[in-house]
Amino acid sequence: MRKELFQLRNLKQSDVKEYINFLLDPDVNIWLEDEVQSIKDFSNIENYLMYGWYRQAIEHEKKFIGVSGLDLVNKKNKVARFFIVIGKKDLWGKGIGSGVIKSIVNYGFKELQLRKINSDFLTPNEAVKIIHEKAGFQHEGFLRKDSYRNNIWIDREIVSIFADELNS
Ligand SMILES: CC(C)(COP(=O)(O)OP(=O)(O)OC[C@H]1O[C@@H](n2cnc3c(N)ncnc32)[C@H](O)[C@@H]1OP(=O)(O)O)[C@@H](O)C(=O)NCCC(=O)NCCS
Repeated sequence: MRKELFQLRNLKQSDVKEYINFLLDPDVNIWLEDEVQSIKDFSNIENYLMYGWYRQAIEHEKKFIGVSGLDLVNKKNKVARFFIVIGKKDLWGKGIGSGVIKSIVNYGFKELQLRKINSDFLTPNEAVKIIHEKAGFQHEGFLRKDSYRNNIWIDREIVSIFADELNS
């Protein structure tokens, strides 16, 4: 029988420390938000993780490897923002991100009754661009020179998806 690439489950308090360790790795955090480039207050990370709108721990072979989820950005318009972080670098490029994004987005439309899901990423992050495109996200535009990394200003790409665009 083929082994599942990943499982999703609710977060546990014990995930927080491991997640913070993932975020302290420059290879993992380089294309994440400016706030996690140098973390000043770990309680902000804990709050984001444990008390966010919709969060799922990602597991591979029963081990915690990352987090994905949705933040409600506009309740009336039923719009949320997607995010994903896989902290185990040796598991990148194996199709886990591609599977997780589809599961989370599908749940957002089917169970959370969202109308639209937005997402954004810094443009050098090729892997995250690919997983969004494969899931069916559409390009909306760029926030030009939005974040400073490795001594240059980097554009941020904005993408979004409606339920009928999801490639499940
Ligand atoms: C971005 C991330 C979620 C992708 O997850 P993943 O499990 O590696 O994704 P997948 O293996 O499903 O797909 C990645 C795709 O990008 C490709 N890829 C990876 N690195 C690449 C690179 N540097 N250049 C071009 N393509 C690349 C892979 O070949 C794969 O393509 P394929 O599906 O055509 O084979 C994961 O790398 C991650 O969590 N990174 C750190 C945190 C982060 O950047 N999060 C997103 C912030 S917006």
